[in-house]
Amino acid sequence: MARRRLVYEGKAKTIYAGPEPGTLVQHFKDDATAFNAEKHAIIDGKGVLNNFISEYVMTHLNSVGVPTHFIRRLNMREQLIREVEIIPLEVVVRNVAAGSIAKRLGIEEGTPLPRPIVEYYYKDDKLGDPMVAEEHIAAFNWATAQDLDDMVALALRVNDFLSGLFLGVGIKLVDFKIECGHIYDGDIPRVIVADEISPDSCRLWDVKSGQKFDKDVFRRDLGDLMDGYTEVATRLGVMPEKSIVRSGGPKLVH
Ligand code: TMP
Repeated sequence: MARRRLVYEGKAKTIYAGPEPGTLVQHFKDDATAFNAEKHAIIDGKGVLNNFISEYVMTHLNSVGVPTHFIRRLNMREQLIREVEIIPLEVVVRNVAAGSIAKRLGIEEGTPLPRPIVEYYYKDDKLGDPMVAEEHIAAFNWATAQDLDDMVALALRVNDFLSGLFLGVGIKLVDFKIECGHIYDGDIPRVIVADEISPDSCRLWDVKSGQKFDKDVFRRDLGDLMDGYTEVATRLGVMPEKSIVRSGGPKLVH
């Protein structure tokens, strides 16, 4: 097979040119980073689980009418996606105080928030993805007012849907981050959900015990990250056979 064209190498994923115009291949790596890549590790099998979990979430979002870039999973580590123009913003929705909001505003972690809170972060690794306000987004033209409206609407629909989906398997959706991009229907731009939705980009706590099943286990050295990710995949019913999750298993050669 001819070597595929590398389009973009990120911290946890690599993007290759897809088989048809307007498509890309999203490859999930085992790299875990935190604190703007100050902390880095390779966690055997993480990429496989994120590929399966994100497939599950995005497929369900597509089926309830929340448009995403996801087309189909190709193999253990890769999925076919629609090519989008990424909007350089991360949209975070929070249901329960944790992480940066707990620190910034002095709220005890685990405190339920009075309503879902939406925040924006400007995607720029050099700056460490700073939080920004609508004023900055408009003034610096990172997104139009219409884009921002669409992104917030998508983020809140994702929040409603995913909160229910995870609660159904005994998991509390504390917060999450999405990224969005434009596709074009003719000349008309439309905003859809892109990137991934996985325990790398969500905080997921066991409803009963409060145990963390997300990347905070790595950020805060709380144990084996794979335990939590495996628990999420198992509860969602998408856990691949354990023997093929770790890299010792069969691998596609590109
Ligand atoms: P924060 O509390 O650190 O601001 O994170 C909020 C949510 O966003 C949390 O679910 C983790 C996710 N997140 C990312 O996906 N990527 C990032 O770079 C950061 C900082 C957070």
